[in-house]
Amino acid sequence: MGKIHAVITGVGGYVPDYVLNNEELSRMVDTSDEWIMTRVGIKERHILTEEGLGTSYMARKAAKQLLKKTGVDPDTIDALIVTTTTPDYKFPSTASIVLGKLGLKNAFAFDLEAACCGFLYSLDVAATMIESGRYKKIIVIGADKMSSLVDYTDRATCVLFGDGAGAVLVEATEEENVGVQNSFLRTDGIGLPFLHMKAGGSVCPPSHFTVDHRLHYLYQEGRTVFRYAVTSMSNDCALIAERNGLNKDNIRFVVPHQANIRIIEAVAKRLELPMEQVMVNIEHFGNTSAATIPLALWENESKLKKGDNLIFTAFGAGFVHGASYYKWGYDGSTVEQG
Ligand code: UT7
Repeated sequence: MGKIHAVITGVGGYVPDYVLNNEELSRMVDTSDEWIMTRVGIKERHILTEEGLGTSYMARKAAKQLLKKTGVDPDTIDALIVTTTTPDYKFPSTASIVLGKLGLKNAFAFDLEAACCGFLYSLDVAATMIESGRYKKIIVIGADKMSSLVDYTDRATCVLFGDGAGAVLVEATEEENVGVQNSFLRTDGIGLPFLHMKAGGSVCPPSHFTVDHRLHYLYQEGRTVFRYAVTSMSNDCALIAERNGLNKDNIRFVVPHQANIRIIEAVAKRLELPMEQVMVNIEHFGNTSAATIPLALWENESKLKKGDNLIFTAFGAGFVHGASYYKWGYDGSTVEQG
């Protein structure tokens, strides 16, 4: 038997219908389309407004589409990983809820929390599970309802985020030269002061005090996070490119986490790539955290051909960061969109 590789064989996605644009935001806080477009590059984001619906709802929608598009038998799925910072509940895991809704009978499910780097980490975990030979089919979902932890009175953060979910099916193959090729993943562990939610965890459980002092929202020191994001994502991509002989002539796309168009442009510049070779969805989705990369693949699936060289890269709270080299495994233009 040849070496087992892990390859993505399908992509699903979901964003809620409600669109929150810069015009509406500028009526809520002191901001403007001009500021947001120049400093961040976001025009609009999708928000899950229906009461009682959480991250699992979007994750399930994306996964259902994935199952339909791939035609995979749900009974053959071995595992389901949901990567999210905005789980439905503290427990049980969002993955267990999604698994139940999808009716997967022969799978185990767990959440993986790695903030905006969640998809990168989860894909690597899924690939390692598959390469071990013990599992053959794993669904990886990046999903976040960022609107659930955004303070819509804070102009420094409320313009940045959106909600959405992207799902991929990762399968075992003995085919050479497709799938996850190489990765460089790191956690610096220095990020806590710069990007976190102050209350709601075991250090500071919810109380009247935490609610009264508005401690259940995302807190970010934007400038510091920006600096680390540019340096980490650029260095990680450069390292992966050098290790694997990748350059502007043989990279089809870089698929970066979408936090700020200026971060994305800096990464492209470091790799000397024109922006046509960079997947960008920040303008209409905003920062959907763990969902940005799978949503970019979902939107651009038809442009992807078998053998295309991709670099995934992300940065997030913690600080978590990394880059991975992925060789696309099928011709996306032939896929019927579900
Ligand atoms: O996905 C997880 C990782 N997250 C990131 O990678 C995000 C990284 N950070 C960033 O993308 C940027 O730092 C931000 C987009 C968050 C902020 O951009 P910036 O260029 O770093 O702005 P700043 O925080 O330095 O603020 C500059 C000015 C300030 O005014 P003063 O103090 O110079 O008078 C802010 O109060 O812009 C002001 N400002 C705004 N003005 C209009 C901040 N937010 C807004 C706003 N509209 N929405």
